[in-house]
Amino acid sequence: MRIVKVRDYQDMSKKAADIISAQVVLNPSSVLGLATGSTPEGIYQHLAEKHRLGDLDFKDIKTVNLDEYKGISKSHPQSYTYYMKTKLFNFINIKPENTYLPDGDNEDGQLECKRYRDIIQRAGGIDLQLLGLGNNGHIGFNEPGEAFEKEVHCVDLSETTITANARFFYSMDEVPKQAYTMGIGNIMRARKIVVVVSGKEKAEITQKVLFGPVTPKVPGSILQLHSDVTVIADEDALSLTKI
Ligand code: F6R
Repeated sequence: MRIVKVRDYQDMSKKAADIISAQVVLNPSSVLGLATGSTPEGIYQHLAEKHRLGDLDFKDIKTVNLDEYKGISKSHPQSYTYYMKTKLFNFINIKPENTYLPDGDNEDGQLECKRYRDIIQRAGGIDLQLLGLGNNGHIGFNEPGEAFEKEVHCVDLSETTITANARFFYSMDEVPKQAYTMGIGNIMRARKIVVVVSGKEKAEITQKVLFGPVTPKVPGSILQLHSDVTVIADEDALSLTKI
């Protein structure tokens, strides 16, 4: 793992955007694995700005997102489909038909998981996967458990995740309890992985993910076994990690 320590959220966003930009420039038909959440928002702003300035062309880029809530429609403002459109896709020249997320409207979990797994396979796998880190160590929605789930699956979100997500919904009842997510195998098969972490509240889990035992109880710890991971973390996130 390469650990890049940066000063703050702004620097983290810029550094990660630079790495993704290099990928797009060097391989203009890359498959990018994308994440949602608060952490990547700054990165997407940088990418949109680089495109606006004429420095980045997404016309042959494909994207596959990590996850999507189950039981929420694509047009719901809290769906990850809506997030991706409003934070990135609407501002770049990516073809809508080249952007993929699990379909939260699909009630048939088995069918949806197979459909999404096939999409990733048909795209030829992921060239660069961007990851955030959950407060409980989850990557995508691979929650802490007894074993690493390898393939795309439907997951019952943990209490910690439901509570963390509640800030985006009007009431607790509205917060989705399930999601479709890439599995650990799909993520680990990505050729390159970039993890972004920011903030004091992630300090403890960052330490465990980077230097703790590799265990499904801390899903992100599996990244220690990948051969090309860059972690971009700010001083707050690394405040409990000696590097
Ligand atoms: C989102 C995702 C999640 C988030 C994680 C951190 O697509 O896969 O694993 O990356 O929950 O979320 P934030 O960035 O909001 O702290």
